[in-house]
Amino acid sequence: MKTENFSQAWLCYGKIDRHEDFTDRIVYSGKSVRLLTSVRELSAAFKAMTGKAPETVNSEKVNTPCVFLKEEAESGEAYTIKLKGGILTVAGGPSGVLYGVFALIRKLACGDTDYNEAKQPSQPIRMLNHWDNMDGSIERGYSGNSFFFRNDEVLVDERTRAYARLLASCGINGAAINNVNVKGAATRLITTDYYDRLREIAGIFDDYGIKLYLSLNFAAPVEIGGLETADPLEESVSRWWAEKMAEVFSEIPLLGGFVVKADSEGRPGPFTYNRTHADGANLLAAAVRPYGGIIIWRCFIYDCRQDWRDTKTDRARAACDSFAPLDGLFNDNVYLQIKNGPVDFQVREPVSPLFGRLIKAKCLLELQIAQEYTGQQRHVCYLIPWFKEILGFKTYNRRDKDTVADVIGGIAAVSNTGDDYNWTGHDLAAANLYGFGRLSYDSTLSSEDIAREWTALTYGRNEKVTDNIITILMKSWPVYEKYNAPLGIGWMCTPGYHYGPSPDGYEYDRWGTYHRADHVSIGVDRTPSGTGYTEQYNQPLNLIYSDISTCPEELLLFFHRLPYTYRLSGGKTLIQHIYDTHFEGVEDVEEFISLWRELRELIEPEAYLRVCARLEGQLESAREWCDVINSYFWRKTLIPDEKGRMLY
Ligand code: GCU
Repeated sequence: MKTENFSQAWLCYGKIDRHEDFTDRIVYSGKSVRLLTSVRELSAAFKAMTGKAPETVNSEKVNTPCVFLKEEAESGEAYTIKLKGGILTVAGGPSGVLYGVFALIRKLACGDTDYNEAKQPSQPIRMLNHWDNMDGSIERGYSGNSFFFRNDEVLVDERTRAYARLLASCGINGAAINNVNVKGAATRLITTDYYDRLREIAGIFDDYGIKLYLSLNFAAPVEIGGLETADPLEESVSRWWAEKMAEVFSEIPLLGGFVVKADSEGRPGPFTYNRTHADGANLLAAAVRPYGGIIIWRCFIYDCRQDWRDTKTDRARAACDSFAPLDGLFNDNVYLQIKNGPVDFQVREPVSPLFGRLIKAKCLLELQIAQEYTGQQRHVCYLIPWFKEILGFKTYNRRDKDTVADVIGGIAAVSNTGDDYNWTGHDLAAANLYGFGRLSYDSTLSSEDIAREWTALTYGRNEKVTDNIITILMKSWPVYEKYNAPLGIGWMCTPGYHYGPSPDGYEYDRWGTYHRADHVSIGVDRTPSGTGYTEQYNQPLNLIYSDISTCPEELLLFFHRLPYTYRLSGGKTLIQHIYDTHFEGVEDVEEFISLWRELRELIEPEAYLRVCARLEGQLESAREWCDVINSYFWRKTLIPDEKGRMLY
């Protein structure tokens, strides 16, 4: 047997001290693939946790202590767990039973003896977007290479199944496996070159209730179809797509649909033909409809050839300006996928106003657990607390229920996995993958509960280990924010690479991401007297953001242009706040290191050392951020630090 070159991450079940009679037997009735997956998973977990393999019986008779897995066709992804008279029944649809089984395993690992629960998913679509390229590289990948592609081949190996297990265990039910920037060989994923392998992956995913999705090249009719145009209103084009989709779905019937990045950052799209995004999305939606497919159309559209002297164009406005007017024009199997913020996954951004503007269109929230701008999985940055804030954000979009969580039809996260031994580069970054899945299945969970579950599953239940890791995780996002760019302004990172500081790196470039710091002021006026971006929000958000006195302070410079001498609510000047937070951020990372070092004897040595090395790297990088950002502002303003610390 081939040795596995990957860890089991949070599925590395440790021994439990408490004995429950029901772990001796698993009774199941039915023979669906997913039920059999559930039996296998539970049996392996019981064996690892108790040291004894349970007896498994396919029967409808249940009369001794056991776990009874009961499939109810109509329950879909919901499940119930009930313990009565020694019999613990896990009931649900095929995926529901599987989620119930993982919930039971979680309870045992966490020492939670209150077994009874009933859950249904908070969001119907809970998917990952891989930005994996066919050559095996990963765009914005920070944990090795792709385990889906290498040298233009599709890979199917033991890692495929291991990955499906990880996703299902935390509630994820979809994965688009290739990069949204579809070029070269990736355009040919919808040809006979790749159907066999993709069908295999779709089958493995299906065992675990996961739908396979692909990213699509809008210009495929030209690039692989031999047509002269990809114009969505040309009959030859719609015929080509209809025939292509008939072929694709007959070859890969389990396929869920496609993600499309069109007219963005150089990718082709309907604009080339003077058509709208609705024309483009509906063309594809009509072609996949007969097979129950969906089209996920990304709203990440902006002018990436801006002149920095142009202060009227505001990249933050772009998604809303492009898509709000099209509401009502999309077919019902189109989902508009909207990034959480209006710009691009900075450590802090307001929630995109587009969630408040689309009343009819179906939407997906796009998050990024690949830490492109949040330390690239070399820094610890547990993003779940922020995701909770985003989901709970009230959009005032005139529906009865109007938080982001209420108005979306699902969530997608740009994935943080690769072929590194630990899947996510930083061991602690696995908490973001786990947390994303758990939060999208059950948005009522707190970020701390999720961190606690993940820690127990990954490292066991030693109190010190739990406390220290939870402290590190829960502080990590605010700490990263402290030594990054201040108060929501973003974009002080190294261009292209996006790691490490370079305050003016993007400032005079074409990407529309300006902080506009001069020697007196910093920030972008996005109120009606500036770019008018605030007007894209429904009332009262528009008023709240436009008024300096009500604008949330962490977003102050995103919305307003202010002098460095401006006094924040706590009485500090803006410049002093910048100096202080940067110094504090470094001290906080030093504290993370001491907290981690306390666990030396309590964690498996290699895992302990892996995190030590990452934390040391984080400290070095945090110091660099602190030095570079503080000297930048000191040199610009010549305002000294009140506390007399060294500025360069
Ligand atoms: C960011 C990222 C790109 C990516 C793009 C997208 O700009 O840096 O690598 O392609 O987002 O979301 O499409």
